[in-house]
Amino acid sequence: MTRRVILTGIKPTGIPHIGNWLGAIRPGLELAQLPDTQAIYFIADYHALSSVHDAAELRQMTYDVAATWLALGLDPARTLLYRQSDVPEVFELCWILSCMTTKGWMNKAHAYKAAVDRNREAGEADDEGVNLGLYTYPILMAADIVLFDSDLVPVGKDQIQHLEIARDIAQRVNHVYGSVLKLPEPLVNELVSVVPGLDGRKMSKSYGNVVPLFLPPKQLKKTLNQIVTDSTPPEAPKDPQASHIFQMYRAVASPEQTLALEQRYRSGIGWGEAKAALFEVLDAALGPARERYNQLLADTAQLDAILADGAVRARQIAQQTLGRVRRAIGVGPR
Ligand code: TRP
Repeated sequence: MTRRVILTGIKPTGIPHIGNWLGAIRPGLELAQLPDTQAIYFIADYHALSSVHDAAELRQMTYDVAATWLALGLDPARTLLYRQSDVPEVFELCWILSCMTTKGWMNKAHAYKAAVDRNREAGEADDEGVNLGLYTYPILMAADIVLFDSDLVPVGKDQIQHLEIARDIAQRVNHVYGSVLKLPEPLVNELVSVVPGLDGRKMSKSYGNVVPLFLPPKQLKKTLNQIVTDSTPPEAPKDPQASHIFQMYRAVASPEQTLALEQRYRSGIGWGEAKAALFEVLDAALGPARERYNQLLADTAQLDAILADGAVRARQIAQQTLGRVRRAIGVGPR
């Protein structure tokens, strides 16, 4: 029996934050435990290159992402973890898929359209500053996915269109060459939009409202103190559902802890106390992982070895799929 393949890519831009953890990493680690499942989680460093042009930053953020997943419990013996850039088959397949992709599909991709909108607002030419990596981003993503015969691709809502494009491209290939590629299904995690940031909006790097995952305790406390609250006096009863401190607390705490805090809200709690309670559960949940994270980053040779081993195993799969595709499209010897 073949195992179900669950694959996702993590773009190394920005430091990993609590929203990434609750929305992507924690559910991803749970999926990786399912029986008859091969989880494949890779670091999409060549996707990041479409926006990150600082070499030191790109390398560091790649390490940060790898260390984060490992620190939080990814078992590299069981789950494939590699750098996208270490698997050259991805880029050969990307070219093949490019030749099967209509330019009009790329014109409609959200990230490109958003860049055009920004340009128009600024009175610039539509394509000002748009590199072709950004423009063809969805094709590279399709290659990442179909190269591993992925069944399920866990993504945030913002990536659904990319999954649709990946399916369209795979369908096009299958239409022309017979059934060559597996069509992936998105697995959308609704929780992603529920994790609030410091200002109550969705936690996101682009809003500047994130709580980084592995801050030292003192800084974590300071950051949580920046959570925006209203001026209700401490003794006034408060609605937990309306409080983003509580939303974050509930996502991390046990059901018993959550119930206890809920009662404190109803009988009146100061925002300072609520933030202190949130700090306690976060620090307890992340403390041991923070230590592992720091150890891993202190020894990048060990990280390199783990990623290199992942790449070797990934390439074994990738070469089989690519061979199948090459035969189907008529390149190489008969
Ligand atoms: N585009 C994704 C993001 O920005 C990252 C990504 C790259 C990805 N390749 C992928 C996600 C393949 C899922 C599958 O979050």
